[in-house]
Amino acid sequence: SKILRQKYLEFFASKEHKIIPSASLIPENDPTVLFTTAGMHPLVPYLLGEKHPEGKRLTNVQKCIRTQDIDEVGDNRHDTFFEMLGNWSLGDYFKKETISWSWEFLTSPKYLGLDPKKLAVSVFAGEEENGIPRDNEAAQIWQSLGVSEDRIAYLPRKNNWWGPAGQTGPCGPDTEMFYWKGDGEFPPAGSNPGTDEDHWLEIWNDVFMQYNKNKEGKYEPLAQKNVDTGMGLERTLVALSGFADVFQIDTFWPLIQKIEELSGREYIESIEVTKSMRIISDHLRTATMIMGDDKQVAPSNVDQGYIVRRMIRRAVRHGRLLGINENFCDKIANEV
Ligand code: SER
Repeated sequence: SKILRQKYLEFFASKEHKIIPSASLIPENDPTVLFTTAGMHPLVPYLLGEKHPEGKRLTNVQKCIRTQDIDEVGDNRHDTFFEMLGNWSLGDYFKKETISWSWEFLTSPKYLGLDPKKLAVSVFAGEEENGIPRDNEAAQIWQSLGVSEDRIAYLPRKNNWWGPAGQTGPCGPDTEMFYWKGDGEFPPAGSNPGTDEDHWLEIWNDVFMQYNKNKEGKYEPLAQKNVDTGMGLERTLVALSGFADVFQIDTFWPLIQKIEELSGREYIESIEVTKSMRIISDHLRTATMIMGDDKQVAPSNVDQGYIVRRMIRRAVRHGRLLGINENFCDKIANEV
């Protein structure tokens, strides 16, 4: 994880991006959400045109929390806290540079060195009713880099559109990058994230903020075109390492080992044990990150504090299921 963060920031610094620190997990000026859910969240004022003190090209690693999938935690890939690697163009470069740099970072042996034969992408399919065309420009750029037509999926708003963060504001089509996680070394011909959603793991999303959604719900072209990208640190580590699940990466595995030690059980013992260990490690990691944030939040019965309490309560329950009867949360928190 350290090498991936470092390589990402170095790569974009070499493309004249300024490295900025992660913002707090607790949003500054947005009462509509409890947590920072994406790297773009703290940057909304700058995407709307305010000048950023560090310039028009930024890169960072942002701490994020998404709790809407809390009940999915326990499978091989869902987590509630994650790190998002991002690069930003605030009215500077657009599609061509973004896509070319994404491809270079993913495939160059100097950076991630992923096999191009195991990568596929999706682009926005277009929406006639809103006068938004299919994103042929993005598709052509991918093809010019060597991505074959059968590895490009054209998908609707549900998959390939981002924003606005609130009711109105900057938004646009996105193009997403996927890594093959199915059987066999290489994906079969014709396979892409549109034809086989389950075996392609999304690792990176490049959003082209070229529209403003106005009060009437109309999409008008934006004067300042922005780029917002988000690469999931945890999922990309899974792609790079070949691990079968996200809990084996180095920011999770020491937590699992500690739970094995405390319970005397083994991670691979049974589906139930694996699931409980995943839930405990995820939830206590998230609770620790919220309590350890610059804007420290303690467990309580309202707002962010309620989420902390809920995370701890669920972790304790799964601890009991594993036969841990003493207090153990602090020991996991120390590992985090
Ligand atoms: N905002 C986009 C996402 O969260 C890209 O950063 O996926």
